[in-house]
Amino acid sequence: MSKKKIAVIFGGVSTEYEVSLMSAASIIDNIPRDKYDVICIGITRKGRWLFYPGDTQGILDGSWKTHPDCCTAILSPDRSHHGILKILNDGETQIQKVDCIFSALHGRNGEDGTMQGLFALSGIPYVGCDTLSSACAMDKEVTHILLDNAGIPTAPWMSATIECLADLDALAERVRARLSYPVFVKPANTGSSVGVSRAYDDVSFADAVKHAFTHDHKIVIEAQINGKELECAVLGNHDPDVSVVGEIIPCNEFYDYQAKYHGDSQLFIPARIEEEASNRIRETAAQAFRVLGCSGLTRMDFFLRENGDIILNEPNTLPGFTSISMYPKLWDACGLPYPQLLDRLITLGLERAEDLHG
Ligand SMILES: Nc1ncnc2c1ncn2[C@@H]1O[C@H](COP(=O)(O)OP(=O)(O)O)[C@@H](O)[C@H]1O
Ligand SMILES: [Mg+2]
Repeated sequence: MSKKKIAVIFGGVSTEYEVSLMSAASIIDNIPRDKYDVICIGITRKGRWLFYPGDTQGILDGSWKTHPDCCTAILSPDRSHHGILKILNDGETQIQKVDCIFSALHGRNGEDGTMQGLFALSGIPYVGCDTLSSACAMDKEVTHILLDNAGIPTAPWMSATIECLADLDALAERVRARLSYPVFVKPANTGSSVGVSRAYDDVSFADAVKHAFTHDHKIVIEAQINGKELECAVLGNHDPDVSVVGEIIPCNEFYDYQAKYHGDSQLFIPARIEEEASNRIRETAAQAFRVLGCSGLTRMDFFLRENGDIILNEPNTLPGFTSISMYPKLWDACGLPYPQLLDRLITLGLERAEDLHG
């Protein structure tokens, strides 16, 4: 049987462009080549789509877009193409068929349903959550509303839109009345902790709000939860598997961008918690996966309070995907090595498409 062609898409117009390059390089290096051929498509920070024929080193060092054989390559929404439309440098167009898309685009314009909408139009199977679940899980306010509705515990929260910048004192008053300091202020739609800060009084709150609004026109404000930071990996479509629970000890005051990618944060797999708490987290992760309508994969992040309460912090429909990222490491600890995990994810994407069209 001929090998299936997997288009790996990376980069993108998002604050997580660099994280995407790291995830994509690992994915490309580890997709089992006895079963799959890989086609690399990079999206520049400005939104240009390019076919990239080079190696993963060029992706990691950011030079990929200057490769002399890069050419424009657009994912076609025309189902008869079922693939990428390449515009070669001499102007000739070529159709490159694709069997499944593996998007390594984190954050906005990648993890938020926009890309998934294009994949759905193209009729090409793809790895991971669909348009609606991606959009719901990306927006921290919508996630809170859906989880609250399902009775899944989240941090006490409120949201605000950009008009509130006109009267920050009034917003601070509402926050003090409903949540009390310290609070976390977050753009509704970013990831990798971009734009997230902790506020402990009116002055730091005003700074945190202004900063968050540089990333989004909606923000979410949450009461600070004290407890362990735990993550678990969900994998599957209808009746998903849930991994062991992992634990993070951020090297900074909280798990900010620096602590995630450039610091000495520690991971413990399995987490150093009671089995009973771990089971409750795993059950809640599967429940949240269903409530949000996820498919393929999602990493569910939690806090465990000292009194034993669990709080769901957030779902990540396209979590960090290097071989040392939590999602693949959790599966590795369960006996599913990274290349087999990628194979499983592609198979799940193909199966979902068959369920829909078969
Ligand atoms: N309510 C909260 N209480 C305590 N810490 C929080 C809270 N919300 C976020 N944090 C800290 O900030 C980090 C980033 O917040 P998160 O909501 O996960 O944003 P992102 O989607 O950018 O990862 C978390 O990993 C955690 O360390
Ligand atoms: Mg997070």
